Amino acid sequence: MAAFTPPRPLAADDDTAAFDCGRDALNHWFRRHAWRNQELGVSRTSVICEAETGGIVGYVSLSTAQVERAWLPKAQQRNRPDPLPAILLGQLAVDRRWQGQGIARSLMFYALTTAVRLSEQVGCFCVLTHPLDDDVRALYAAFGFEDLPFDPARSMAVRIADLVRSGFGATG
Ligand SMILES: CC(C)(COP(=O)(O)OP(=O)(O)OC[C@H]1O[C@@H](n2cnc3c(N)ncnc32)[C@H](O)[C@@H]1OP(=O)(O)O)[C@@H](O)C(=O)NCCC(=O)NCCS
Repeated sequence: MAAFTPPRPLAADDDTAAFDCGRDALNHWFRRHAWRNQELGVSRTSVICEAETGGIVGYVSLSTAQVERAWLPKAQQRNRPDPLPAILLGQLAVDRRWQGQGIARSLMFYALTTAVRLSEQVGCFCVLTHPLDDDVRALYAAFGFEDLPFDPARSMAVRIADLVRSGFGATG
C-alpha cells in the first residue's frame, strides 16, 4: 500500500502538470495559478505527495476572505461586524489515481486545523468555501460546513467556534 507525506507547502519544482483530479477548472488552477499565487502571497497551497515518487497526490489552498453579514442565517446576523473576516478554502482536489483513500479528509483536516490555529492570532469568524457542485457539498457538510442561506453564490461556511468545539486546533 502506498505511503503519503504529511501536507507541506507547494514548491517551485513540484510537477503540477502531472496532476489530474478529473476537473478541468481545478487542474487548470493548480497548473497555472497555484505557484504564481504562492509567490505573490495571495494564496497558500499545501500538497500531500506519494512518499516513494514525490508525485502530488492532492492539494488544498487557503487565503483570507470576507463574508457579508447578510449571507448568514438571521439568528447569526445580530451584533456582528459587516463584513466578517474569514479564511477561504479555495481549492481542494485529489489526483484521480488516489481518490477514495481518505486524502481529501486529510487535506480538509489539515486546512481546518490551520484555520483554527491562525484564528488564535488573527481574528476570523469562519472558514468559507465555494463547492463546485452539489455532490461535493456532502463532503463539506461532513466537516460541519453549512449553506450560507442568503449568499447568491451558494457558498458554505463553518464557524471557527464550532471547529474549536469539535476539537480542531487542539494541541497536545
Ligand atoms: C472530491 C474529492 C476532493 C474527494 O477526494 P478523495 O480523496 O477521493 O475523498 P476521501 O477519500 O478523503 O473521502 C472523503 C469523504 O468524502 C466522500 N466523497 C468523496 N468524493 C466525494 C464526492 N465527489 N462527492 C461527495 N462526497 C465525496 C467520501 O465518500 C468520504 O466520505 P466517507 O469517509 O464518509 O466515506 C476528489 O474526488 C476530487 O478531487 N474530485 C475532483 C475535484 C473536486 O470536485 N473537488 C472539490 C472542489 S469543491
